[in-house]
Amino acid sequence: MKRLLLVAGARPNFVKVGPLMRECRRHPDKVDVRLVHTGQHYDPEMSRTFFEEFGIPDPDWHLGVGSGSHAAQTARIMTAFEEVLLGWRPDVVVVVGDVNSTLACSVTARKMQIRVAHVEAGLRSFDSTMPEEINRLVTDAISDILFATEKSAVDNLLREGRSAEAIHLVGNVMIDTLHYCLTRLDDVPGKRVQGPYAVVTLHRPSNVDDALKLRGILDALCVIARDMPIHFPMHPRTRRKMEENGLQPLIAGAGIQVLPPVSYMDFLRLWKDATLVLTDSGGVQEETTALGVPCFTIRDNTERPVTIDEGTNVLAGTTREGILEHYGRFRSGQTKAGRVPHLWDGKAAERIVSVLMESGEVR
Ligand code: UD1
Ligand code: UDP
Repeated sequence: MKRLLLVAGARPNFVKVGPLMRECRRHPDKVDVRLVHTGQHYDPEMSRTFFEEFGIPDPDWHLGVGSGSHAAQTARIMTAFEEVLLGWRPDVVVVVGDVNSTLACSVTARKMQIRVAHVEAGLRSFDSTMPEEINRLVTDAISDILFATEKSAVDNLLREGRSAEAIHLVGNVMIDTLHYCLTRLDDVPGKRVQGPYAVVTLHRPSNVDDALKLRGILDALCVIARDMPIHFPMHPRTRRKMEENGLQPLIAGAGIQVLPPVSYMDFLRLWKDATLVLTDSGGVQEETTALGVPCFTIRDNTERPVTIDEGTNVLAGTTREGILEHYGRFRSGQTKAGRVPHLWDGKAAERIVSVLMESGEVR
């Protein structure tokens, strides 16, 4: 019996642990799986709703750390997670993604000589101003088992000196969740939007913490909204920055429907039929590629190059002019065909859990 401890803390983590939890529970004779929620995200629409939609059981431990500076939040998670590991010693701690909870729990576990598996290893934006890039580098450097979503990630890990034995190209658990939810979408009540429309999500500090940058992006969205309505479920960080900088009037009456963060199912219903998605989210870049929905990434780089090379994703930059130039081309018919990347087939969790069940003491 393998003792696996899954860690989740922020919205994209819940999307990733859902399939892992389901798959582990299919093997009750081989896996004793438990879940820690660090509490990095805590609003019901950023946390609770995903547990309900994905059928994830209540966490075995809720650390309740809440928001704070990077150092404060990471330290609180480490302190609380250490207590968990002192009380229940797993064979492997499984961390996902690139958030502060990922970094904090992987470091804590490894210092206690507990093996760490990282799901979504090897992605690199090569932009160290991005907090997630630091989290990825540290987590991958100390993890024992590295699960990659795309070939570029495998190449990055090998270049960094990780042994091929530790790396497993398994596909993408986010797409497992997408498949799982697509088959259930018709059973969940909700309204469809008619006609052409765009969907926007924004939350990267580099876009929303800088008031000038955010103003430029919002300006571009106002111009686009004259052509097609925009639906914008707003991340709490962005809402706070809009308020702090008095930017709400800029978009009032512009045809941009601002919503609170919406549930996974409601968001899926919205973006899957959208004419265009504009986002700075990591996960949304992948999801749009998986369903062939046109996506503009409002960033200058991406750690998920397969979505550009093979998928429907386009790097549209972060300036008003750049975004509008791309939009003009898109509206004149210059759209991008895409294909679904290798192994993004809804079975990544199956592959991951099978490796974890077999895993020995490889470092
Ligand atoms: C975090 C991750 C980011 C991920 C994003 C997903 C890090 C460093 N960043 O960014 O990689 O893409 O989650 O959404 O781990 N807040 C609330 N309610 C909540 C959560 C947050 O109001 O439930 C507000 C607080 O004001 C908080 C701010 O949002 O200070 C930022 O939250 P935080 O978790 O620190 O970072 P995110 O921007 O959410
Ligand atoms: N998402 C959601 N509701 C929303 C916005 C996003 O359910 O209002 C989902 C989205 O489909 C994806 C995940 O949240 O599965 C991505 O999370 P986020 O963009 O917060 O983080 P990132 O992927 O950038 O780390």
